[in-house]
Amino acid sequence: MAEIIWGLATSHVPSIGAAMDNHKTTDDYWKPLFDGYAPAREWMADHAPDIAVIIYNDHANALDMSIIPAFAMGTSDHYAVADEGYGPRRVPNVVGAPELSEHLLVNLMDEGFDLTVLQDLDVDHGLTVPLSVYTPEPGEAWPCAVVPILVNVLHYPQPTAQRCLDLGEALGRAIRSYPEDIKVAVFGTGGMSHQLSGERAGLINEEFDRNFLTRIEKDPQSLAQISREDYIREAGSEGIEMIMWLVMRGAVGDDIRRVHDTYHVPASNTAAALALFATPEGDADSSEQQGALHG
Ligand code: DHB
Ligand code: FE
Repeated sequence: MAEIIWGLATSHVPSIGAAMDNHKTTDDYWKPLFDGYAPAREWMADHAPDIAVIIYNDHANALDMSIIPAFAMGTSDHYAVADEGYGPRRVPNVVGAPELSEHLLVNLMDEGFDLTVLQDLDVDHGLTVPLSVYTPEPGEAWPCAVVPILVNVLHYPQPTAQRCLDLGEALGRAIRSYPEDIKVAVFGTGGMSHQLSGERAGLINEEFDRNFLTRIEKDPQSLAQISREDYIREAGSEGIEMIMWLVMRGAVGDDIRRVHDTYHVPASNTAAALALFATPEGDADSSEQQGALHG
């Protein structure tokens, strides 16, 4: 059966991707952020999944505002990197996992989550930057296949935080019922506090962010109680992206260990964070150990 080995929450700020693409990660501006990632990256590299389920939002790159699914899933065997205005990032296209997509789609539908099916999807920074946070130098190909799950965080009314946590719990059950012996990682992306436009552009609420970072581990239910209006009031119009972390948190379940986290301001004019949680299956599994056993 499939196992969930870890969950990663990470911001997906485009300039974090650009810093990697343009070899600026050791510049004074970027070094503290990337130093903060290092322990998590090391651990993840030693605990490689076969497939990543990545919860993210499209930023009006693949889906314009004419059709706005609350939740959607990519079901393709490949996803091209979106051109967001400067040409596509020079990173590998994403290989899909259509059999797992299909399994998850059916199981989520049976649990009452009716996801829109996207058979054709270009993935934007919301998905590719988290992949780069996991694997900074993928070479010719990303190290795992991907199932994208999309959440509408752009257009009122966004799904409630509670609905996101509940979707995550159903997603966890669906992944664990997949009959193949594969290792799966779940990514929750976006956040932390940020507002990109309007009077409050540049808003950072460190107190809210740090509280969220603490409670995502021990008390996700309390974060599920926060209304969409309060996410936006406290964390900015785009800070509501944090509800996507709750999908990841629901999927990994309560028996988790915080491997590492880091919080950094600013990245662009946003707050950025990463939090990595291992499941018992993840802690028991190490690519290095397996290399030693099999080698
Ligand atoms: C920016 C864009 C994002 O989608 C995000 O989540 C954070 C920052 C930006 O354009 O700076
Ligand atoms: Fe975003």
